[in-house]
Amino acid sequence: MAQHYLGIDVGTTAIKALVVDESGSVVGEAEAAQGLSVPRPGWSEQDPADWWDGTVDAVRSACEQAGVNHVAAIGLSGQMHSSVVLDKGDRVLRPAILWNDVRTTEQCRFIMETVGNDGLARMVGNPALEGFTAPKLIWIRDEEPAVFDQMQTVLLPKDYVRLLMTGEKVTEPSDAAGTLLFDVREGCWSEEMVDGLGLDVGMLPRVMGSAEVTGGLTKDAAEALGLRTGTPVVGGGADNAAASVGSGNVEEGLMQTSIGTSGAVVAPIETVRVDPGMRIHSFNHAVAGRWYLMGVVLSAGAALGWFRRVLAGRTGEASSYEELISEAEEVPAGADGLTFLPYLTGERTPHADSNARGVFVGLHSGHERGHLVRAVLEGVTFALRDSLELMRGLGVDASEAVAVGGGARSMVWRQMQADVLGVPVVTVGPAGGAPYGAAILAAVGTGGFESVEEVCRAWIRPLDRLEPRGEMTDAYEVAYERYRKLYPRLREHFAEVVAG
Ligand code: XUL
Repeated sequence: MAQHYLGIDVGTTAIKALVVDESGSVVGEAEAAQGLSVPRPGWSEQDPADWWDGTVDAVRSACEQAGVNHVAAIGLSGQMHSSVVLDKGDRVLRPAILWNDVRTTEQCRFIMETVGNDGLARMVGNPALEGFTAPKLIWIRDEEPAVFDQMQTVLLPKDYVRLLMTGEKVTEPSDAAGTLLFDVREGCWSEEMVDGLGLDVGMLPRVMGSAEVTGGLTKDAAEALGLRTGTPVVGGGADNAAASVGSGNVEEGLMQTSIGTSGAVVAPIETVRVDPGMRIHSFNHAVAGRWYLMGVVLSAGAALGWFRRVLAGRTGEASSYEELISEAEEVPAGADGLTFLPYLTGERTPHADSNARGVFVGLHSGHERGHLVRAVLEGVTFALRDSLELMRGLGVDASEAVAVGGGARSMVWRQMQADVLGVPVVTVGPAGGAPYGAAILAAVGTGGFESVEEVCRAWIRPLDRLEPRGEMTDAYEVAYERYRKLYPRLREHFAEVVAG
């Protein structure tokens, strides 16, 4: 009988489910949209119960489409860092505080004062950023002590879904790495860090392998999902790690650029390296014994989405992305002197500044809509280049980049990436993203294959390749220099604006 694997991504905007057959073809695909609650500016929350409802809907639809009621294994991926806190009966104590929530500036300062930059570099290999999990736990301790007192367990989004599926409290290294409580070098919780921050290691889940079976579907979960009791659930991976697996980006010398709501540059490394300046993340990969460097652009596709919405105004009638991008294509590289900083929700890499804001600089009366759209596309691409330059500074470069996410659908934007980053940009199929990577981990974990690389070789194929165009280099270099100089000049201004 044919084998199928199910990959599920607990994403911020949707829960996605993919059914993949043993040749790697996607035979069923569905998603359930997720809302986001913003109780105050800069806050971002979701109710974990919605993730479960979305998982049930997406899995049932994907399996129905595939015509299957049994899969050989399930792999999970999910948004990183977001905190699910449970009481002793495993009840959710408050809405999950998400990765894009910036309420924890004070708590990041506390972490820096408590362990210092050197302590962070040594114990967990990453900086204290608002989005990460540890500052959220400290915020709950500071601001909601009654909740903190009842807190028995802390889980990441996909691991909460795992708990409901299997009854097991388990995570795996690629998601644990984003908590700021995990020793990325040793692949275990850093008790020194956990103790140093006054937290309790007993609250944290057990760490198993990304391709290891972590449990089987309980009877209730199997009934809800329409699958068999005992179906194995593997560790899976954080969305960026799982998406990298899904695009075959698992070996040093490659990299992945992703443009979704946020953007990321992900470069796998064979031996762990930590940025002494702490501007770039060093996380465990979903491939055992590997790591990746990552830079994150908080508003990437979201910047273009924002601009499109603004253009639509009250009518709500927005031009299509294709139309906007084709207008941008008519405009020369550098947008006739117009520069856009995409820091609409603050910025992670390289500035780690939640006060940063978006700007258009250099407007003149000859600029049309296409110039503004072009400046937005270029600004996001320059933000990715900032991350790549930091990696190059650490001796990590790539011979090509796999482009993924909604932004990769546009050939104009992919060509811009090739020209600005100076590397060929490829796309691969099936372009399944994080849930596809989760399905690959499920296939490896249940004995179908020897290794992640073996599955990637068997299932993933190149689709398209765009070379950097040498004749564009000068114009983009000038525009990138203009872009790079702006943030330091505006940093104080941003802080003043935010302080009111
Ligand atoms: C990574 C990050 C985001 C989320 C999005 O550090 O915060 O990419 O994982 O889901």
